[in-house]
Amino acid sequence: MKNIQPITPELIYVGASDRRTALFENIYPIPRGVSYNSYLLLDEHTALVDTCDASVREQFLENVEAALGERRLDYLIVNHMEPDHAATMMDVLSRHPEATVVATAKAVQMIEQFFGTQAASSQIVKEGDTLSLGRHQLVFTMAPMVHWPEVMMTYDQTDKILFSADAFGTFGALSGNLFADEVNFEGEWLNDARRYYINIVGKYGQPVQTVLKKAAALDIRMICPLHGPVWRSNLEYFIGKHDVWSRYEPEDKGVVIIYGSIYGHTEAAALRLGALLSERGIKQIKAYDASRTHVSKLVAECFRSSHIVLASSTYNNGIFTPMESLLLDLKAHSWQKRTVALIENGTWAATSGRLMRAELEQMKEITIVGETVSLKSAAQPSQEEQLAALADAIVASI
Ligand code: FEO
Repeated sequence: MKNIQPITPELIYVGASDRRTALFENIYPIPRGVSYNSYLLLDEHTALVDTCDASVREQFLENVEAALGERRLDYLIVNHMEPDHAATMMDVLSRHPEATVVATAKAVQMIEQFFGTQAASSQIVKEGDTLSLGRHQLVFTMAPMVHWPEVMMTYDQTDKILFSADAFGTFGALSGNLFADEVNFEGEWLNDARRYYINIVGKYGQPVQTVLKKAAALDIRMICPLHGPVWRSNLEYFIGKHDVWSRYEPEDKGVVIIYGSIYGHTEAAALRLGALLSERGIKQIKAYDASRTHVSKLVAECFRSSHIVLASSTYNNGIFTPMESLLLDLKAHSWQKRTVALIENGTWAATSGRLMRAELEQMKEITIVGETVSLKSAAQPSQEEQLAALADAIVASI
């Protein structure tokens, strides 16, 4: 059954949501699913803005045909060639071989790489190029590395709508409500939006800043991203979040405790530090077991918070593997501008503190606060003082 939704009288949502795939990009858990958004403009000429992932192929193709009715497809605008958006483009083109693909030169090259063929008709566009559909005047603006090099955005000058590719997207399937102002975004979506942004695009803060500056010069009344709800109000709220994230600034002043603990002793010390921080007035402390929390969530939490406690056992003379993975991932995402406190543990030769510090020293503007608390198997009663001193140091730096 078709499932299309009008956005404006001439713009129709033809995307679809996927609640069956467990891992987005075969790496990120998506328990709330994900939507693959596609938009059809019906003007004197018709234009489909991006296609969908193969997981929603049938629904998507049915939606496109239903929205087009008897009309032909004149243009397929490809803002982004990653397969979660482009996997079904050849299905569309086989039904509408007359359509002209509008894309960047790099995207056209990727079409060849992925499909071994090209559309019958292609139009390569670059920064500032325009396309008239009749009433709607589209202008293309390049957005390289947000989050692939071929990415562009399409701005509808007529209705002031930005088709923003991956930017301003989020994990989470749509449940009927298409607009961000129809859902509890702050309560139910923001964590997934942050996790999506940080893990998918987080490494590319500078290109995102460039795009935000370009966007600031446009009169944007609506943002149509490739994942998640459409924004038609309170745009500055979500743009502001992306500004903070892409400048690598913390969203919240507070403490996140992450521990890698084999038998629970490192965990106990980390949680004792949490209690000592609470006694000193720190609120909304969050603690996570690195072995049981997906690293994508840990990375997102490290981006959210200003202060992070990392507590790790020593393992194979190194950092306990889940904590080591987190540090590698943080480095890969250019994590920076944070304050970190360390707890290490080792029954005969604790090395994890020194090694965590060495990893952190390779990142930008990471301040390590207080003395590393070093446990030998388990925290001894005499070490309460050391934990208290670390809590004092953390509080003093907030
Ligand atoms: Fe949603 Fe970069 O693809």
